[in-house]
Amino acid sequence: MKKVLVTGGAGYIGCHTVVELLNHDFIPIIIDNFSNTDERILQGLEEILGFMPIVYRTDCTDYKAMHEVFSLEKPDAVIHFAAFKAVGESTAHPLKYYHNNIDSLLVVLRLMDEFNVNELVFSSSCTVYGQPAMLPVNENCPPQQATSPYGYSKQVSEQIIIDTCAARPQLKCTLLRYFNPIGAHPSALIGELPYGIPNNLVPYITQTAAGIREKLTIHGNDYSTNDGTCIRDYIHVCDLAAAHVKALEWLSGQSNVCEAFNLGQGKGNSVKEVVDTFVRVNNVAVNIEIGPRRSGDVEQVYADVSKVKNALHWQTERSLDEALKDAWKWQRHLTQA
Ligand code: UFG
Repeated sequence: MKKVLVTGGAGYIGCHTVVELLNHDFIPIIIDNFSNTDERILQGLEEILGFMPIVYRTDCTDYKAMHEVFSLEKPDAVIHFAAFKAVGESTAHPLKYYHNNIDSLLVVLRLMDEFNVNELVFSSSCTVYGQPAMLPVNENCPPQQATSPYGYSKQVSEQIIIDTCAARPQLKCTLLRYFNPIGAHPSALIGELPYGIPNNLVPYITQTAAGIREKLTIHGNDYSTNDGTCIRDYIHVCDLAAAHVKALEWLSGQSNVCEAFNLGQGKGNSVKEVVDTFVRVNNVAVNIEIGPRRSGDVEQVYADVSKVKNALHWQTERSLDEALKDAWKWQRHLTQA
């Protein structure tokens, strides 16, 4: 059984990937500094799995501490999630973002070299595309100027990995470009933990439905879309987690590759559609108001998923309805806890 270091393994996408890895006979080793998650996720994982996975409370930018983990665990592969991800915060604190997101990657790549670990699955983002000229956007679409330090940190990270792969013939990498992950594990035992006021649409909807927020502001209804609100490609976090296992399986049959893959449903939904679907499938009310556009928002982006379907034999299995039901179930779990 392959041992996989999962940096950020107690985070939103990381913890769902830990479950998928164990379901497919990989041994995940979680590394997390718990800066954006907490014990509730570990308790949830323990309940789902029936045991507590191995966890290191380690900061990925700490070379010495990470060296110790690599020498103790001798991993076969790494999935590198650990990163900050709030677009607005990155604009206010760019150095915090560049330090965390870039330094952690450098430490991981350096240690992979020293310990001869040759398979890397990297968490990237559709943010690298900006507002693409062509929709659905495919992996060959040239990156646009990033609109935030967060976005730039993902572009730079991709380039660092491409350059490292070119220089190190044993290395094999996938750059997974996530569209908009939503929802939670159907058990409602793990999900995204809210800290402060959510930036993202679905946590804001669920908190409004739960009465934690007074109303959801829709950021603009004057875009050139069917109903005037922005369009995104929303993907259930469990589908996203499953793609990481497929990526690892694919990498083991490759040599010296560095491939980007879009991970989305391959279809767009507007903000208004998401809100209406949430209300319909959960039979709850959500107060809304229409506000001005949010600075930096792209009008629409959704994925061309043909490359990932053909190469990794992966596609989404869960619908928007299901993702929004699971998101609400998770919110109720949090509210009751
Ligand atoms: N939105 C609202 N009201 C809210 C929150 C969001 O109307 O309270 C709208 C946004 O304006 C946008 C859509 O909902 O049109 C989705 O917004 P999110 O913040 O949920 O997601 P983004 O597409 O802006 O951002 C996501 C990830 C980023 C990533 C980006 C890439 O959160 O990490 O996709 O496009 F960089």
